[in-house]
Amino acid sequence: MKKFLRYLLYLLGAVVSLVILFILFIQFRGIPNYEAKEISITVVPTPQRIAQGKKLASMLCVKCHLNTETQLLTGKFLVDAPELFGKIYSKNITQSKEHGIANWTDGQLAYFLRTGVRPDGSYVPMYMPKFIKMADSDIESIIAWLHSDDSMLRASNVVPPSSEPSWFTKFLTNIAVKPIPYDGVAIDVPDTTNAVEHGRYMATSQLQCYACHSGDFAKLNDLNPEKSFGFFGGGNSMLDYDAKVIYTANITMDEETGIGTWTEADFLKALKTMQTPQGKILNYPMEPYAMLNDTELKHIYAYLKTVPVLRNRVVRR
Ligand code: HEC
Ligand code: HEC
Repeated sequence: MKKFLRYLLYLLGAVVSLVILFILFIQFRGIPNYEAKEISITVVPTPQRIAQGKKLASMLCVKCHLNTETQLLTGKFLVDAPELFGKIYSKNITQSKEHGIANWTDGQLAYFLRTGVRPDGSYVPMYMPKFIKMADSDIESIIAWLHSDDSMLRASNVVPPSSEPSWFTKFLTNIAVKPIPYDGVAIDVPDTTNAVEHGRYMATSQLQCYACHSGDFAKLNDLNPEKSFGFFGGGNSMLDYDAKVIYTANITMDEETGIGTWTEADFLKALKTMQTPQGKILNYPMEPYAMLNDTELKHIYAYLKTVPVLRNRVVRR
């Protein structure tokens, strides 16, 4: 019996040591690196491209990279990144050669925006969205804008503190969260006169409304958005500016728990002014989409009308 207990102790000791080794291994390995690649493109910065890039960036990038002190995209502490992920700071993406992205090539930026892998092989995990399914022309517009002389991008040498990813983030990126392989197949903007197809593109691949508005960030299907868990049924938990939990709304056409009773005009008004027909003012992280024109908003609405209805009552503020 004594012998048995001794073996049991050895076994326990071995298991505990293995667990400690694993914890240390993850801690020191950190977020894994990947092969740095470049997409072979040269972006011709036409005024139209830059304007489209600015429009997209104002909806997709500015909120995370704009520093209110410098009024430039010099990066900042992300109050609304879950604490579980660590202390997360965005980066200086101004035209500075030393501390911004002036030296990144178009191809490096394109590969980074699609996959999250930087030119040095380091990987930005879930705290920055990836644009794996965005049309090539939209990616190029964003790049044209990033390399433009826009006042928000004026070269600045401000260096935000480095992110301090938690052990949990390191664990996730070692076992599950990895760059989505980019296959290089050309992606066109769908026919913009086809309301539903254009709306689908905007709501999924371009503006990624579905990422916030489906059931759970961890259960998104990046390559096949419509297969995401709780697609557009809301209930995904996020943080607001005060780091308080807020759940995203069900924006399928369910009449009781979604926006099934809204008219197209109600939808346009809510997206432009943040006021719903129920008289509610929408909270951050929902933001106004005033940059979109009426046709674009109508196309998103037309698409949402085709999304399978989900009955999911979300606790709202
Ligand atoms: C949800 C917040 C968020 C959004 C939205 C976002 N970013 Fe980021 N971005 C980050 C964070 C956080 C990092 C750095 C993470 C880290 O510490 O590795 C980053 C890093 C970067 C980098 C790498 C810079 C460097 O020097 O390493 C570039 C380039 C970049 N973002 C561009 C963009 C562009 C362009 C957009 C819009 C299309 C955008 N980001 C949208 C949060 C965001
Ligand atoms: C960063 C996450 C995020 C993104 C991206 C986002 N939303 Fe939202 N949205 C929210 C949250 C959170 C709420 C709930 C706000 C509240 O309850 O005050 C919301 C609320 C709404 C509502 C109000 C519904 C209701 O019943 O009150 C509509 C409509 C809506 N979003 C549409 C969209 C569309 C369309 C897009 C893309 C163009 C989009 N959202 C992108 C987070 C997001």
